[in-house]
Amino acid sequence: MPYSEENDKKYRQELEKEIARLKKEKNAIILAHNYQREEIQDIADIVGDSLQLARAATKVDADIIEFCGVRFMAESASILNPDKKVLLPVKEAGCPLADMISPEKLKALKAQHPDAACVCYVNSSAEVKAESDVACTSSNAIEVVRSLPNKRIIFVPDENLAKYVQSQVPEKEIIMWKGFCPTHIRLSEEEVIQAKKEHPKALFLAHPECKPEVLKLADQVCSTGGMFKYARASKAKEFIIGTESGMLYRLKKENPDKNFYLPSEHLVCANMKLTTLGWIAHSLELEVNEIRVPEEIRVKAKKSLDRMLEITYGK
Ligand code: 13P
Repeated sequence: MPYSEENDKKYRQELEKEIARLKKEKNAIILAHNYQREEIQDIADIVGDSLQLARAATKVDADIIEFCGVRFMAESASILNPDKKVLLPVKEAGCPLADMISPEKLKALKAQHPDAACVCYVNSSAEVKAESDVACTSSNAIEVVRSLPNKRIIFVPDENLAKYVQSQVPEKEIIMWKGFCPTHIRLSEEEVIQAKKEHPKALFLAHPECKPEVLKLADQVCSTGGMFKYARASKAKEFIIGTESGMLYRLKKENPDKNFYLPSEHLVCANMKLTTLGWIAHSLELEVNEIRVPEEIRVKAKKSLDRMLEITYGK
């Protein structure tokens, strides 16, 4: 089929039909992160931030969870749902931030600070979660850190989020790790200042993985889920969005009377964008790229995730 916009649309419709058929036949559900491509968000049963998706994974009634996101997210779904088959459409969809700390390095850090509790950002491997006392996401990191009795807290692997939490919870001493998100780190102070000049009435919403000098310019620091809530509730009509580009699609769709701007063209997570309709159909059809965690690690990692869910949502 030669390329044309019309053929592309036809191909997309065929894939959507095929995915709907496979979902029904296999009793599958599609979860998608807010950074996914527009066409993926359109076919997903649930679209959300890391916390909303982890919570959704504990509640779904399906045999297969097709997880459109990156590996650590699918891994969390599998840790919480050992009886379900969790599929990642593209097995290479990883998270460079999650790869910035290993369980061995975390063990060595813990040995240096035996009095400290250990909090891991969900953007981490199952092995790192298994070594941690509790997990957190960008939407509950402050709450999780505050809930711990220890004065000293090891926080891995995102340094910018750790610094942000430290600024909000000064009574704790946070021991940080030098991990970073290669997408959020690219957003510069200059780009935000320029965007504010171009849109003087816009509020700037920033994800806490951004650099501290960028967060200083923010009207609100929040998770991707928090940005939807904030934009919906705010009286403002214009927003500069300091996170991955995939956010703009639903923000515009849910708020047709408001305008949203990206302050940089570099805010694209290549790993999130690996997922396509074609790969979803492929992995559902063949049930390939199953994400499974060895039982010994899964049980320990589940404790960290369960504790996080309990702190946030109660029993
Ligand atoms: P959220 O928890 O805000 O969805 O963030 C996920 C993430 O990986 C940010 O890079």
